[in-house]
Amino acid sequence: MKSFLLSCLIGCLSFSSFAQLYKDASKLPDVRVKDLLSKMTVEEKAGQLNQLNGGQFTGPALNDPGQKAKMQLVRESKVGSFLNVISARETRAIQEIAVRETRLGIPILFGYDVIHGYKTIFPIPLAEACSWDLDAIEQNSAVAAREASAGGIHWTFAPMCDISNDPRWGRVMEGAGEDPWWGAQVSAARVRGLQGKIGATDRVLACVKHFAAYGAVESGREYNHVDVSRIALWNKYLPPYEAAVKAGAATVMNAFNVFEGVPASGNKYLVTDILKKQWGFKGLVVSDWASFAEMIAHGYAADEKDAALKAMQAGSDMDMEAQVSYKHIPQLVKEGKLTMAQLDDAVGRILRLKFMLGLFENPYKFSDEDREQKTLFTDAHRLQAREAARKSIVLLKNEHNLLPLELTGKKIAVIGSMADSKDDLWDFWIAQGESKNAVTLLEGIRKRAGATAAIRYVPGYGLDGKSSEPMMQEAAAAAAESDVVLVNLGISGKLAGEERSLANPEIPEVQVELLKALRKTGKPLVVLVSSGRPLVLTRIADLADAIVQLWILGTEQGHAIADVLSGDYSPTARTVMSFPYAVGQIPVYYNHYNTGRPIADGQDGGWKSRYRDIPNAPLYPFGYGLTYTSFSYGELKLDKTTSALNQNVQVSITVTNTGQREGEEVVQLYIRDVASSIIRPVKELKGYQKIRLKAGERKVVQFTLKSADLSYRDANGKSFLEPGLFKVMVGGNSRDVMSADLRIN
Ligand code: NOJ
Repeated sequence: MKSFLLSCLIGCLSFSSFAQLYKDASKLPDVRVKDLLSKMTVEEKAGQLNQLNGGQFTGPALNDPGQKAKMQLVRESKVGSFLNVISARETRAIQEIAVRETRLGIPILFGYDVIHGYKTIFPIPLAEACSWDLDAIEQNSAVAAREASAGGIHWTFAPMCDISNDPRWGRVMEGAGEDPWWGAQVSAARVRGLQGKIGATDRVLACVKHFAAYGAVESGREYNHVDVSRIALWNKYLPPYEAAVKAGAATVMNAFNVFEGVPASGNKYLVTDILKKQWGFKGLVVSDWASFAEMIAHGYAADEKDAALKAMQAGSDMDMEAQVSYKHIPQLVKEGKLTMAQLDDAVGRILRLKFMLGLFENPYKFSDEDREQKTLFTDAHRLQAREAARKSIVLLKNEHNLLPLELTGKKIAVIGSMADSKDDLWDFWIAQGESKNAVTLLEGIRKRAGATAAIRYVPGYGLDGKSSEPMMQEAAAAAAESDVVLVNLGISGKLAGEERSLANPEIPEVQVELLKALRKTGKPLVVLVSSGRPLVLTRIADLADAIVQLWILGTEQGHAIADVLSGDYSPTARTVMSFPYAVGQIPVYYNHYNTGRPIADGQDGGWKSRYRDIPNAPLYPFGYGLTYTSFSYGELKLDKTTSALNQNVQVSITVTNTGQREGEEVVQLYIRDVASSIIRPVKELKGYQKIRLKAGERKVVQFTLKSADLSYRDANGKSFLEPGLFKVMVGGNSRDVMSADLRIN
């Protein structure tokens, strides 16, 4: 009797815990996760690991067999997440099925690529990183999150934290350039901006991608092989991912590539040892698109079941679109190849985020059509996008201070078909941005120049990349009649982003010929370069009087360009990727190694590490960019020239505005470890300061160089700081620096 009562009591308790715990918002997510896991079948658990490409679930989609099949999978508790279900309406429609028509009512997590804006499109991340303005980068990410979350989205697949030295790779547009230190600052800022505090209705979960070293794809070819050492991994590639994880990123995405011969999705060293153990990452690891199954093509998994097993054994959690996990995991558990603990760990990470987001309390909290309507593409967001765009424009050349231009009352020729194309200023990742809303270069100039200016637009070359004698003649005639010529060259935004590798990231031949024809008119030429990557500009560098790197600037592109050209805004950006001198020089980057046979810039000499036909240096180095004034640097001073291992060193330098206008300078701090157990790059960025000086004004700029700034990582990720000689360098770009010696004892 006693035992009967006891079992009744236990039964009642467990029933009440069934009824309450995981639904009880006052309980900690971990408690709720544990409770929910205890109620789930293996099949339901495997279903949570499944992320499908969604699409539409209302209107005609209700009769579409493919969409019906996905809805059925939801009803069977076989989907944990969708990507690419957009809008409050669509997300609500499929969420209702998940919540109302499944046994446990576990809500769906909606993910989407929001790379540089959702409806209001900001400059591409590479461009934004050239602003050296972390607050702005964070705030711009917050706008993207506000709009995306109003569109039903819980989670975005950003920031991309891949360091790359290769402009052939179309995805350099998504990153923060070639420097690991700067990449780390930018990645953390983006995570803060996107994610805020998890659960806020105006933010989305961030996703650190592509883990790891995807930026090292051989010859810049998308999805290609990667072969990097652990030293390179720790010192060059991991810092931005690590910074983003430390900033609290909720999720991380596997890369497509291999590391040490093992695909990232199945790579235990990357996912479990580094990410989950060494960095203590508690969030979710999602595959890249079908990357679990791609382990078969890589030659690492025998079949889909083996792929599912290897992904899980490595510590990867969610299966994006390969559909191998939910199909094979139940059997793998049955066969004892996967333990329930392994499965629970993966599923628990997904459920935990759903609890943290508050989806169990209100599965539709992000699916509010009224909020969506009020939040997207507001005037305030557009203004912020314009501000971001003008901060991203890099002035590369400005002969005889041609810029800024007086536009009013002038005859201006605008040449280049991209200047008048709304579609070509759009890259691969424009989320819900609409080209009709984008302001072209031509529109921006027209608006700023006003009625008194005579603006003549001539395509010069077609959007198909071709030109003809009459087209060139028409352009030259327009130029000849004008006071100044604005020529928009480069490559269409359509060629920036995923699967847009280019063997020849150069100004197309037709455009070079066009520029030569325009040069003959003797009119001042301002070349405006559109591209999602640094192109080889060597052939046009001498033909142009001014060169302005526009990148891809988003919705407010035209207005921002007009702001800069007119001088309403003086350029403040500095490039975060080197501009190669020639394609054959790629990869070219400032933080390279010295080699045993170095050669100083501009010097000649045999049997050195050099090209016979071109210089070693890029055309424009990392950190480079002009503004409408100039700066000079005084002597570099250290508060001590010999320092102990754990001491900070104060670095100071006087910067003077030597020009005629007020302007901003990005003062950059670099170091070099002259001799160490593992060789270090010739320069490493360790800090920067943005200063604004009036004409003639000077300022003492101070940096605190911490001893940690002088350290590096070994092959296991352990930090080392060795005594010896260091060089401390400060300048306005990575090439032109003042230098002082520092000895660490
Ligand atoms: C593949 C891309 O590599 C990744 O960056 C993106 O987030 C996914 N597709 C989802 O669209």
